[in-house]
Amino acid sequence: MNQLVTNQLVADQPVATGAAAGFVIDSERPADEKARERLLDRAMGPERRRKTCERLRAGRLPADGLALVARDALGRVIGTVRLWNVQASGVPALMLGPLAVDPWWQGCGVGAALLREALARAVARGHGAVILVGDAPYYARFGFSPQLTEALDLPGPVDRARFLGLELKPGALDGARGCLRASGAKAAFARVPHRPALTMPARRAS
Ligand SMILES: CC(C)(COP(=O)(O)OP(=O)(O)OC[C@H]1O[C@@H](n2cnc3c(N)ncnc32)[C@H](O)[C@@H]1OP(=O)(O)O)[C@@H](O)C(=O)NCCC(=O)NCCS
Repeated sequence: MNQLVTNQLVADQPVATGAAAGFVIDSERPADEKARERLLDRAMGPERRRKTCERLRAGRLPADGLALVARDALGRVIGTVRLWNVQASGVPALMLGPLAVDPWWQGCGVGAALLREALARAVARGHGAVILVGDAPYYARFGFSPQLTEALDLPGPVDRARFLGLELKPGALDGARGCLRASGAKAAFARVPHRPALTMPARRAS
């Protein structure tokens, strides 16, 4: 297990994958998309699409290498987490979310394993900080705290007690202030509003 020291992650030991508990953490593949979306609906309900954080994800790709799933012994997706590139006043960070675990698997360590693996991969890729909106009692055990986001805002309403940060490198959020903005690569096939097909007027018989 990684060791958490206040709000810094020290990635000096291998990450637990939960293999002994019957699941593994894996990179998300394109074929996982439908299962991931079904899982998110089941774990979080349709309201999830109206969350303020969704504005930082819409039309963007997750940060490179930071879309993970948990799979059961049959390879089925039972958990998901993704991280997204954001920045505030030019200071880069990652936005984490959604993290969700299939209700049948909740309480088995899947969420913790996903989070630890995601943080370890973020460290390995040189990222300095992770921000999220979530239940503080759950994320506190990984070192997230609301103090690190005091100078930050989101592009919409946010419960400040749930607006949390973790520095992977000490001081990575120094000087970060104002509204977080999406800074990741744009998705190639962002959804466009449906437009009815053009119909040609019928040719009059002469
Ligand atoms: C929150 C969630 C991701 C946790 O994943 P999980 O695999 O069930 O959690 P783990 O097995 O890793 O950890 C279980 C521990 O976390 C605690 N816990 C779980 N959800 C919690 C929450 N929302 N707030 C506080 N503690 C929580 C459990 O009580 C348990 O504590 P213990 O170790 O002291 O017994 C999962 O329950 C979930 O998908 N919930 C619905 C979606 C959601 O709310 N996601 C956003 C999280 S804010």
